[in-house]
Amino acid sequence: MGLYTTISVLSSDFSEIKATVQEAEAAGATMIHWDVMDGLFVPDLTFGAKFIADCRKHTVLPFDTHLMISSPNTKLDPFLENSDTVTFHYEAVPDNVADLISRIHSAGKKAGISVKPSTELHLLQPYLPLLDTVLLMGVEPGRGGQLIDRGIYGRLEILSQMRCSGGLSFQITVDGGVDSDNAAALKGKGADGVVLGTAYLKSPDKKKLIDTVSRI
Ligand code: DX5
Ligand code: ZN
Repeated sequence: MGLYTTISVLSSDFSEIKATVQEAEAAGATMIHWDVMDGLFVPDLTFGAKFIADCRKHTVLPFDTHLMISSPNTKLDPFLENSDTVTFHYEAVPDNVADLISRIHSAGKKAGISVKPSTELHLLQPYLPLLDTVLLMGVEPGRGGQLIDRGIYGRLEILSQMRCSGGLSFQITVDGGVDSDNAAALKGKGADGVVLGTAYLKSPDKKKLIDTVSRI
């Protein structure tokens, strides 16, 4: 089973979003990755639930919503309807993680949690049995086009070990700085899928890139 690919539109021209998501579908992407930023949890501001909802009619691909927002427990609901997976940051809700996961599941959606490169993975231990996916950040959240943090490989090994020793089945997605040069190493350390942003948008042959990564 190769790596699944979820395409981040963060660095794309938002005025062309219909063409961008349709191109990603045609290129064989697994999902569309929506980077929601509120200007508080991360400095930039991107888009809200309506932007994602308006794009729902343009593609059949599942929507993978990455909430880089403060207080996701108070802002979650509008994102539930049009997302297939909703991922929030541990750093934004250290004390009501299980409740948030439960609310996402009650809406019939997959629940993910994301951690910054500096966040200790053992903090996720109690929640791993509840999660569908862990979004492991390869970069500090908030911007596309960054170089992957070398620490990601050791973190993947730790998280894979936590999954294996717990007999758990959550998926591991790496987000940030992924390209065709590092994807194989990420897979080798335990990644099941990757977010592709800049590497995809800059690729001269998007379909070939997705084919290549999907065969790893
Ligand atoms: C960064 C976002 C990532 C980013 C990935 O905060 O969460 O999804 O858009 O983009 P690249 O692949 O350019 O690092
Ligand atoms: Zn993201």
